[in-house]
Amino acid sequence: MNRVFVVVVLALAVAFGTGVAVQGQAEKAPGTVILKGAPLGGVKFDHPKHVKLADNKCETCHHPSKPAMPLKTPHQKCSDCHQKTPTAQVKTIYRAAFHDAMAKTGTCITCHQKNAAGGKAPTKCNSCHMKSNT
Ligand code: HEC
Ligand code: HEC
Ligand code: HEC
Ligand code: HEC
Repeated sequence: MNRVFVVVVLALAVAFGTGVAVQGQAEKAPGTVILKGAPLGGVKFDHPKHVKLADNKCETCHHPSKPAMPLKTPHQKCSDCHQKTPTAQVKTIYRAAFHDAMAKTGTCITCHQKNAAGGKAPTKCNSCHMKSNT
């Protein structure tokens, strides 16, 4: 009897553990994605490469939850909240989530400006935005 009980408890623990693992996978960082919206063309963004470039610091791009509009998942898509026109809850428009109007500063640009030597970190509009990125 006791043995059966232990087996059942173990089975439950395994099932529960698996459930947690599956949920964890939903939070797995994406591979290369194309960020879309700009009339200039989409931006091909190599997420894994950038995780390394940011020394594994996710918060370099994913800010903490803000009271005005709390995060649903810790690393939710920017476009879920940042819209093309400001909303009552989120004033920062879609573009401003990535860079300012002239692409001189911002999430994607400040680091590129620092790494401009060598020319591999793009700072010009059409070195990020390309019509071919669909
Ligand atoms: C250089 C900036 C940057 C860094 C650093 C970064 N991310 Fe991201 N991440 C993004 C962007 C931009 C998106 C939005 C992709 C999209 O809209 O499809 C994203 C999307 C995601 C998503 C998908 C969200 C969804 O709902 O589809 C997950 C999960 C994620 N990141 C996890 C992480 C984790 C974990 C780390 C740290 C280990 C990390 N990211 C570091 C920029 C970054
Ligand atoms: C759940 C909603 C939500 C998600 C997802 C989200 N943000 Fe935000 N973000 C906000 C809110 C709310 C603010 C507060 C300022 C405002 O009203 O615009 C903000 C502000 C910002 C700002 C302005 C500076 C600051 O910290 O106040 C930047 C830049 C920004 N977000 C970039 C991003 C990027 C890049 C992503 C995706 C990697 C992202 N956000 C994902 C809601 C969100
Ligand atoms: C922590 C610094 C940092 C941040 C933040 C960052 N980048 Fe980069 N990015 C780099 C560096 C460094 C390179 C050059 C990589 C190399 O040497 O190959 C690069 C290269 C690129 C390239 C050229 C193609 C490639 O993958 O090498 C694109 C496109 C790009 N980044 C887009 C973005 C976008 C979009 C964001 C914002 C969501 C962003 N980056 C944020 C550092 C950064
Ligand atoms: C480091 C890469 C990078 C550079 C350089 C860059 N952008 Fe962007 N920009 C992005 C990303 C990522 C987005 C969000 C995805 C998209 O709309 O393509 C964005 C969004 C935008 C948007 C918003 C589109 C919308 O739907 O509201 C505009 C407009 C824009 N960029 C214009 C420019 C201009 C003009 C320049 C040059 C002065 C420039 N960008 C340089 C990465 C870049």
